[in-house]
Amino acid sequence: MKVTVVGAGNVGATCANCIAEKDIVNEVVLLDIKEGVAEGKSLDMWQTAPINLYDTRIKGVTNDYEATNNSEVVVITSGLPRKPGMSRDDLIATNAGIVKSVTENIIKHSPNVKIIIVSNPLDVMCYCAYLTAKVDSSRVFGMAGILDTARYRAFLAECFPERYSSLVIRWTRGHDGSAPKIHHGFRYSCNRLD
Ligand SMILES: NC(=O)c1ccc[n+]([C@@H]2O[C@H](COP(=O)([O-])OP(=O)(O)OC[C@H]3O[C@@H](n4cnc5c(N)ncnc54)[C@H](O)[C@@H]3O)[C@@H](O)[C@H]2O)c1
Repeated sequence: MKVTVVGAGNVGATCANCIAEKDIVNEVVLLDIKEGVAEGKSLDMWQTAPINLYDTRIKGVTNDYEATNNSEVVVITSGLPRKPGMSRDDLIATNAGIVKSVTENIIKHSPNVKIIIVSNPLDVMCYCAYLTAKVDSSRVFGMAGILDTARYRAFLAECFPERYSSLVIRWTRGHDGSAPKIHHGFRYSCNRLD
């Protein structure tokens, strides 16, 4: 299985590293628009494979979508993050342009790909990718609930260590505070909370 991560910044590079270390796919392609950044980070990560005991091949490329050919999953993290004082919605104009052009390129090279959006504002970027890709909504996912859940659960563990010592996860609501919902085909599910 091949996974592409677009954007080799804080989130994208961490995401590529986590996928590789789980040893669940054959190849991770990390793509960024900045010359040499994805190549350098990927090389550093891949060279930890003998220490962290995984076989995933991580490759970095600069804007080379040929290298992403026939990916089964793409994670789109490209775009601006918030600066102090900004809301996620302040990122719409810039990030919509980035997500649109990335999605066009991805679909051209991997027509059957499933798309996981991370770029903010998440719900809008999911819809942007869905409209651009022109695929069934079950192939476009947004990643947010699990992050908010993990943060919430970690704070609970910090405040009530005797009650929440084990970090078992329960899904929470979306970034916008809405009820757990289907995010273009992504069904939030519940795990055990001890
Ligand atoms: N959904 C969530 O829960 C969640 C969590 C954290 C961050 N985010 C969002 O994820 C995005 C990335 O955050 P970050 O902290 O990694 O930012 P970052 O600035 O560290 O990384 C973004 C990367 O995207 C690259 N990029 C920009 N345009 C590109 C393009 N056209 N093609 C390829 N790469 C391109 C940049 O060169 C940069 O390396 C932001 O929009 C942020 O708000 C979402």
